[in-house]
Formats: sequence, structure tokens, C-alpha cells
Amino acid sequence: MPNSSGCALNLADIQGFILRGYHTPFVRHYILRIENGAAAKQLLGGLATADDEFMHITDARPWLNGKPDYCLNVGLTHTGLSRLMNTNDIEFPGRNIADQRDAFKEGAVAAAPWVGDTGQSAPEYWWDELGTDKIHVVFSLYSTDLAVRAKKSEILQQAFSENNAFSVTKIHDGASFPGDLIHFDYKDGIAQPQIEDAPGLPHPDCQPQVQSWQFILQQVDMSGHFPENPHCTYQLNTETQKALLLNGSFAAFRVMQQDVVGFEQYLDQHKDIIDPELLAAKLCGRWRDGSPLVLDPDHKINVAPNDINNFDYYKADPHGDRCPVGSHIRRSNPRNQPIRGSAGGDGRGTRNHRIIRRGMPYGPQYVPGSGDDGIERGLMVMFICADLANQYEFILKDWVQQGDFASGGPAGKDPLIGTVDGHEGGVFETTDKNGEPTVLKDLPQFVRTRGCAYLFLPSLKGLKHIAEADLPG
Ligand code: HEM
Repeated sequence: MPNSSGCALNLADIQGFILRGYHTPFVRHYILRIENGAAAKQLLGGLATADDEFMHITDARPWLNGKPDYCLNVGLTHTGLSRLMNTNDIEFPGRNIADQRDAFKEGAVAAAPWVGDTGQSAPEYWWDELGTDKIHVVFSLYSTDLAVRAKKSEILQQAFSENNAFSVTKIHDGASFPGDLIHFDYKDGIAQPQIEDAPGLPHPDCQPQVQSWQFILQQVDMSGHFPENPHCTYQLNTETQKALLLNGSFAAFRVMQQDVVGFEQYLDQHKDIIDPELLAAKLCGRWRDGSPLVLDPDHKINVAPNDINNFDYYKADPHGDRCPVGSHIRRSNPRNQPIRGSAGGDGRGTRNHRIIRRGMPYGPQYVPGSGDDGIERGLMVMFICADLANQYEFILKDWVQQGDFASGGPAGKDPLIGTVDGHEGGVFETTDKNGEPTVLKDLPQFVRTRGCAYLFLPSLKGLKHIAEADLPG
């Protein structure tokens, strides 16, 4: 069925993880460097051919024979793509024309000061290779079990080394926890944008659908149906741009360390003011089992699975009495509440800034109360969108790291993931155990960034175009 831009989504051409969560228990990210451009191109082209007998890139078509035992997707950094296309001058659409930045080209390190990657989260503390131009390509291998991962990993690594196509800079493994929990013991993976014409999501919600061009690069004139943001425009003018970009997307591959001990300690230290489970819920906007505060403020209602994401803020909780305006989910997607520059009610001001999240924890599951074992734990996420500046960076810069994004407040930054500057703690406006307003002023920084890389996620045809480009590698 055609979408509002008049074209149907070509699911066979779009990388699968853009439009669907695979819900596999394991992921392995390969951080690669191109050594031999011609061999690298050959491998990318081979993997884009669906009937390839050894492995292939997973597309977004429905699984007619059930879930496959592995899924494979790939992203290229600007350096990697330039290397393969043999030019430094790849012009990308999707940049925010207002500030004339090409976020993809400038990369995650350049964006660090305004997305909150400062202090302990600054690039100088990132894992070695992340944020450097040593990264060219990231493959993500999802698997249903460890044996499959080992087998497919062997095949892939063999392919990487064939004709010295790629060297493996780092491998990062992630694994899911039972019940879709992540560190800090929250259930994750509930809220995702409902994308026009894309296959349905497990948790329906009452927000307006997001037009598919916000996630998939398409041949449309944005100004025609995007009056809220006339600065954002995509124009795929040349044949090369079309071949390379159509049906592609972008992602920020972000690694975030979580201070699991500090988080539990903080909840416990404030138990006289607010029950630890309630405080955990207020910080996030959902109880740790995923039930939303807006629908279930006292954790007494059994919210039906279908309704777990079916709520709004404007009518149900305009002042944040249930779900604090400054909580993590209310900042990262304010839904239909009034925000700076929008009156609220219809969600129009926020729907231009949505992102898809595909993440999994790294490090073993922490047992609360077991003390500091010195093992690093965190979350590795692909934040996927068509415009890194206007979606991914905007959310961090304008909503997560700023207090005044919503009319009338709130103070401080995102209490779960915001950066805490200097010696003073973060500020969080919430209610105490008696329902009275209280302001916590001693929030430590629970999450620190360990690295980020901006990736282009080509379509299957785009990968073949890269492979076939008759240019010296
Ligand atoms: C370690 C870091 C993080 C943790 C522990 C975390 C945790 C969570 C949790 C527990 C939820 C609720 C589950 C759900 O609605 O699916 C959530 C939702 C969400 N998070 Fe995060 N998050 C982290 C980082 C980020 C970052 C960096 C961003 C933005 C770039 C972000 C954006 C979102 C969005 C957009 C939602 C969905 C909100 C909604 O639509 O209601 N998160 N996160």
C-alpha cells in the first residue's frame, strides 16, 4: 500500500533491523577496518545477494518460515563509505540545513559537546576505537543461540580475512536478559515509533504514525508535507545519490556504561523520602516491569499488554503528577505534551524527532546487593533514523540535556542518562512517598558514554551499488 509520499516501502531492499526488532538473545558487533577496498566491496556485494549460499544481509520482509537462526546487518561510517566510493566528497541529504551541518560526515566526536558527551562521557574516555576514523564498517550479527553465533562468526571472520578485505578492530558482544530486562532491571524494548506502511509493532499506541521517510531515505520533496520543519529536506538528485541512498537509513551506534551499584545505592539511600521502586519508576516513567506511570501510578493495575504503550501525557497527566515531566521516557519522547515551540495536544511538535532503538545489554546481569565486582556493564544501542541531526542529536541536545524543553519546566536533565557537570548533583523534580512535590538535588551520573559511531545503513541495492562502483578501492 502506498504511503503519504505515494510509494510503498520496498521491504526486500531495506535492512531488516531498521523496521523490526529481531528479539534474538545474542548480538555480536564487529568493528572493522577496510584493508583491501576491492575485496571489501566484493564481500559487501556478495552479502547483499539474498540467495548467497554462505550468509546474507537480512532484509525487512516478513519471515514466512519463522525466525531465522541468525540475522546480519551492516553500517558504514563516513570514512568507510568514502574509502569504498573513493571520494571524500559524498554529499548526504538529511542534514539540518538550518545549521548547515552534515552530522554523518562530522561524526559523533564533533557532536559530543552538545549531545552531553562531556565530563566522564567525553570522547577521551571512550573505548579505544570508537569515535576514531579507524572504524569503517560495523557488522551486527544477531543469533538465536551461542552455537549459531560461533558457527556464523567463524564464517564471517574467514570472509573478512579473505584477500585481506577487513581487519577486525574489536568485537563487542551483547546478550539479552530474561523478560527483556536491561541493567538497572528495567524492561526495555516497549516503545518504538509506529511507522507508516511498516509491519505492525507488538505494542500499539495512540500516537500518530510516523511517516516512513523519517526512517527510510526516499525520493520525496519533504517541504511538501513537512510544514513544521521546512529546514529539513531530502533531495536525491543524481543517479548516484539515488542508487546509493534510496531505502537506506542512518544510525548512531552508542555504547553506554551503567553504574549498577551506584543506581541501587541511590534508590536505597532515599528510601525515607520515596520508596525505592517508586523512585526507579519516577526516574524512568515506567515501573521496572514496564507498566507506565501514566496508566498505573500506584502499580496496582494490571495494564493489558496491548495497552502498555497506549497512553498520552497531554490529557492524562498534563502536569506530571503521575509521570514526572523530567523522567527519561517523557523527555526522550514527550508524545503530545506541549514542548518549546509547540502547543501540544496533537503531538505534532514531537513526531519529527522520533528514533528507533535496537539495543542489548553487555556484561553479566547484576544481582542487586552483591557489591561492586569490577565488571563493566551497559547497553549497546543502534539509534536509527533518517536524519541524525534532527532526530538522534535533537533528542539528546534539546530534551535529554536541557531542563526547559517543556513549558513550565522541568529543572535539570534526564535523571537516568543525563550528564552531571561539576561537583553538584543532578536535579530531579518528582513527588515523595506522600505524593507531595519534592526536588532531589544530589543525582549522580548513572550512565556514561563509552563510544559512539555514526553509520549509514545502505539498502540492499545500495550495497550492490557500492560493490559495483567502478572505482579503485
Ligand atoms: C544506558 C542508557 C539508557 C537506559 C538504561 C535507558 C532505559 C530506557 C528504558 C527502561 C525505557 C523504557 C522502555 C521502553 O519504553 O521501551 C527507555 C525508553 C526510551 N529511551 Fe532510553 N535508555 C537509555 C539511553 C537512551 C538514549 C541515549 C536515548 C536517546 C538517544 C534513549 C531514548 C529512549 C526513547 C526514545 C525511549 C522510548 C520513549 C517512549 O516512546 O515512550 N534512551 N529507555
